[in-house]
Amino acid sequence: MQISANAQAIAYLISAVLFILSLKGLTHPSTARRGNFLGMTGMAIAIIATLLGTEVVSYGLIIAGVVIGGLIGIVVAMRIQMTAMPQLVAALHSFVGLAAVLVAIGTFLNKRDLGQLNAVLMGELSAGAIIGAITFTGSVIAFGKLQGLISGKPVKYAGQHQINAFIALATIALGVHFAMTGSMFSLMLMTVLALVLGVTLIIPIGGADMPVIISMLNSYSGWAAAATGFTLQNNLLIIVGALVGFSGAILSYIMCRAMNRSIINVVFGGFGSDSGGAPTAGAAAMEKGIKSASVEDAVYWMEDANRVVVVPGYGMAVAQAQHALKELMDLLEQKGVEVKFGVHPVAGRMPGHMNVLLAEADIPYDHVHEMDEVNPDFASTDVTLVVGANDVVNPAAKDDASSPIYGMPILEAGKSKQVYFLKRSMNPGYSGVDNLLFYQDNTSLIFGDAKDTIEGMVGALKGVAH
Ligand code: TAP
Repeated sequence: MQISANAQAIAYLISAVLFILSLKGLTHPSTARRGNFLGMTGMAIAIIATLLGTEVVSYGLIIAGVVIGGLIGIVVAMRIQMTAMPQLVAALHSFVGLAAVLVAIGTFLNKRDLGQLNAVLMGELSAGAIIGAITFTGSVIAFGKLQGLISGKPVKYAGQHQINAFIALATIALGVHFAMTGSMFSLMLMTVLALVLGVTLIIPIGGADMPVIISMLNSYSGWAAAATGFTLQNNLLIIVGALVGFSGAILSYIMCRAMNRSIINVVFGGFGSDSGGAPTAGAAAMEKGIKSASVEDAVYWMEDANRVVVVPGYGMAVAQAQHALKELMDLLEQKGVEVKFGVHPVAGRMPGHMNVLLAEADIPYDHVHEMDEVNPDFASTDVTLVVGANDVVNPAAKDDASSPIYGMPILEAGKSKQVYFLKRSMNPGYSGVDNLLFYQDNTSLIFGDAKDTIEGMVGALKGVAH
């Protein structure tokens, strides 16, 4: 069965609307499931409409590709740890980039044989191949850094930005030459230079900035898809590519703002600051030392509290402590304690990281508050439980102008009567900066894996020895 071009266009339009509604749904945890469902429906309609289109010559290879790719996708998605999600996303972006390069080269060879080449088409092919190649190798490097296969440290050398600028200009010049002449040599050299540029653009970027880069590469993969859409004259691919391109760029901007980093600084890595500076705790604060506390101490104060605020961070994800936290929340609420969760926009390692985990543990959405909502509450909070978070509550961001995180808005946990940090050691957080809050009089540290500690609290609240 095949459908007409008009029917396919209508199906694509419906898909495009569903994708836009999907993005809208994904802007809030309470509507995220619906957003995902709408996105999946849109994609299913798009795939079916494409497969039923008149351009399909034979189904054999397509079915083989869908079955093999689908199986790999299912296995990878089921096995992946939540904390490894950023590198999975990087790996997936690399496929989009590679696909864009292959489509560009394949289309060129095909149309050349058919004698259907023209300057506009070849301009589109240039754009697709260049953006796709940068996305491909850039994402591979990002994957390697995040997976620990290559060092996450910024790689810098003299004249780096000039060399990158030179490669970029040479790539564009070859793209223009290819569009004007159809030279196979220019196409190939341009693609190779763009592949090199993907590497040289990403190696100077430090580990702390990688999530922003993943989001930027997401944006690039969108533009690569849009360029492919022009090449294949597929309107849906153009729309979807533009949606991904813009949403990735906006997300990168939001993340940069939440980390008080300039997007130019992040994207061109190593302009001025590098990520992950040296510990910068004030000497006076260091001398004061830190207090450690027991599970029982914290439970004693929490039982009597009117309000407890939980600040989750990356360590909660590592420890998978969210289910134990839900149990703790239920027990405290039974004792009449108000429990709130305060989530920083860049807590964890990817946007919405904490929200996803808290939702997974069935913590109600109305208990989960954004930074601006919860900050005014800290002054009237009895106990703040900082669960595997660090940078997002570090007052150095406000008080220490020399700190690399200076200017980053924080959760003002230090204003509450008691602060308990649940962490395993004195290690700093992602930014590598010592936390001035450790040394405040109202702060105590409870050392250990966050899940074990919270399970201990749950046991103590239930009156069970642990
Ligand atoms: P971090 O500052 O990275 O601190 C995490 C803390 O968790 C560490 O101090 C670590 O201390 C502790 N931890 C690790 N495993 C643990 C376990 N099993 N049990 C208990 N504690 C554990 O986390 P954060 O406060 O969530 O801040 C996020 C950071 O990532 C920010 O610097 C942010 O700028 C950066 N970042 C985030 C994003 C997004 S989009 N979320 C994007 C880019 C950058 P121990 O090792 O001592 O246990």
